[in-house]
Formats: sequence, C-alpha cells, structure tokens
Amino acid sequence: MTLLQLYDVAALQDEVRTLAHERDAVILAHNYQLPEIQDVADYVGDSLGLSRQAAASQANVIAFCGVHFMAETASILSPDKTVLIPDVDAGCSLADAITPDQLRAWQAQHPGAITVMYVNTTAAVKALTDYCVTSANAVSVVEHILREHGAETEILFGPDMFLGAYVERRIGRSLHVWDGECHVHAGIRPRDIEHVRAEHPGADFLIHPECGCSTSVMEYVAAGDMDPEGVHMLSTGGMLKYAQDAAAAQSDPGRPGRKAIVATETGMLHPLRAVAPDTEFIAANERAACVYMKMITLPKLRDALRDLVHEVKVPADVAERARVPIERMIAIS
Ligand code: 13P
Ligand code: SF4
Repeated sequence: MTLLQLYDVAALQDEVRTLAHERDAVILAHNYQLPEIQDVADYVGDSLGLSRQAAASQANVIAFCGVHFMAETASILSPDKTVLIPDVDAGCSLADAITPDQLRAWQAQHPGAITVMYVNTTAAVKALTDYCVTSANAVSVVEHILREHGAETEILFGPDMFLGAYVERRIGRSLHVWDGECHVHAGIRPRDIEHVRAEHPGADFLIHPECGCSTSVMEYVAAGDMDPEGVHMLSTGGMLKYAQDAAAAQSDPGRPGRKAIVATETGMLHPLRAVAPDTEFIAANERAACVYMKMITLPKLRDALRDLVHEVKVPADVAERARVPIERMIAIS
C-alpha cells in the first residue's frame, strides 16, 4: 500500500484549506513537493520565488512546505510572522556541506574575497555571506559583483560545485568553488544523459545546474556534439517558464507536441505536466527523488496548522546579518 492510499487526500486538503483560513496562513510549496501538497498550496515555486512570496506575504502565518533552510529564509525575511515547517527534520544535504566554522576558515585563507553562497545554506552560514544566489540568478549576481567591485575581484562561491562550475563557464573566469553537492542532483550522471539521449533523439534538455551531468553537457555543447538550441540550463522556475512557453506555442493547431528530458528532482514533473500537458516530459533519472522534500505530507501539514507547531525561528542577531545577503540578491534579480 502506498502512502497515498493511507489517507483521504481530498478530505485532508479541505481540512488544510479550512485551517489555513482560520489561522490566517499562506501555504508556500517548493516545486519538488508531493503533488497533493503542491495542489493545496497558495503558491508553488522555486527558491527565489518562494523568498519573494515570503517577503511580500501579508498573512500572519507561513506554512512552509519545503526544506529547513527555505523556512529559515522565510523567517529571516518575515521576522514578525510565524513560520511553520510540517516536519522539522526536512533538511538538505547541500546545506549540510558547509558549516560556519568551515566558511570562516576558508574566508581566513582569502582575506578581502567576496563570499557568495547559494540559498541552500543554513542561516548561520548566510550570516557570514556577502551575497546569496539561487540557481535562477547565480550568473547575474556574480556579474553584478564583478561590475561593482572590479573584474578581478576574488570570489568564494559555495557550497555547490556544479553550480559553481556552471557560473565559471558562463562568466568566463574562475572562482574559488567549495566542493559540496546535493546528493540527488549529483546522482544525475553523464551516463544518464547519454542513455536518455539515445532513447529520445531530438528531445530538448532542461538541466538544473546542480546536476552531476551539467558540466559534461556544457562540454558536449562546447564541442559541437549537442545542439545548444535544445539545451536549457534552468532553475526549477525557469523550467516552468519553458513549459508555459511550450503550452502557448502548442495553441498553434497541427504543431507536433514537444519532448523534453528533465534533469532535476522528479517532483518537478508534476507542475511541468500540469502546465504543458501536450509536451512529453521525461525524467533523466527516475530515482532522483529528495527524501527530505518528500517528508512533508498532508497529515503533517494539517497537524502543523491545527496545533501551530514546528515553528522555525532564526535568532534575531543571526537573522539581522543573514538578511543582508538575501536582500542584496532580491534587489539584483
Ligand atoms: P531552485 O532554486 O531551482 O528551485 O532549486 C532549489 C533546489 O535545488 C532545492 O532543492
Ligand atoms: Fe537539498 Fe538536494 Fe533536496 Fe534540494 S534536492 S533540498 S538541494 S538535498
């Protein structure tokens, strides 16, 4: 019996909506959440979009359906709101890849360097950071820094090495890159791409820059072995935009449906298929599921809203310092 069969999804979704209304709560969900969570949320999006929604929300309570660092970011941006996460153990292997002590030691080796950290980091690491980035804006934030501080500025970029390599390739210079990775995305390997490419010739590629295959795909494109037209390195929000554009193009009658291979966490297939039902979305690796994202379930969301439990609260002094790099990022992108 699957988890889904253990409870009445529609009844729980009704209960969640009623409780959210009573608690003056907004439900935010990441694109990798279970379909039944995405379907009950007020807003579904990528890390950048969720940060923006958290900052702009007028609700008293934010029920954050995502992982812990995302709920921390919401709490940092909305310190007066009650931010709840349905399961406090929903962590992130990438955020665990660098600790504040490790970052301090790295900074001590490079005095004067600017520290750029992916939002997939703890609040304590953000408090030591100059600029945050997401996969949607990493290139533009680093370009902004180089314009503002000079083209030769030394940059510490972390914690994701594949995103770091992608930014290096796009800006055409090297950075100091931390060697962290997300176990889910790192597990999408070059051989997965070779395999699906052979099975679906002519399909587009939507690749999250955290993926272990991203570097080799950039190399295929640079070597002329892959058509750059069909390769899109995108955040999860960028993938949704691709689907919206595909759906708009599909309104042209007689146009054949598209095929796109999706290299990211498999939860992403749900919103893509909902937005563009005529496009065939194929997982690059069907085992690429994030156990942390899937820890958030409807019964846990219902309990958090009913009992107002599992609050994520960042200490005020940490939040004050961590807010600076996040707000710089939001201002740039
Ligand atoms: P996005 O910012 O593209 O949503 O990716 C974040 C991520 O990987 C969360 O796990
Ligand atoms: Fe973290 Fe990877 Fe899960 Fe995203 S998919 S939350 S980066 S472990």
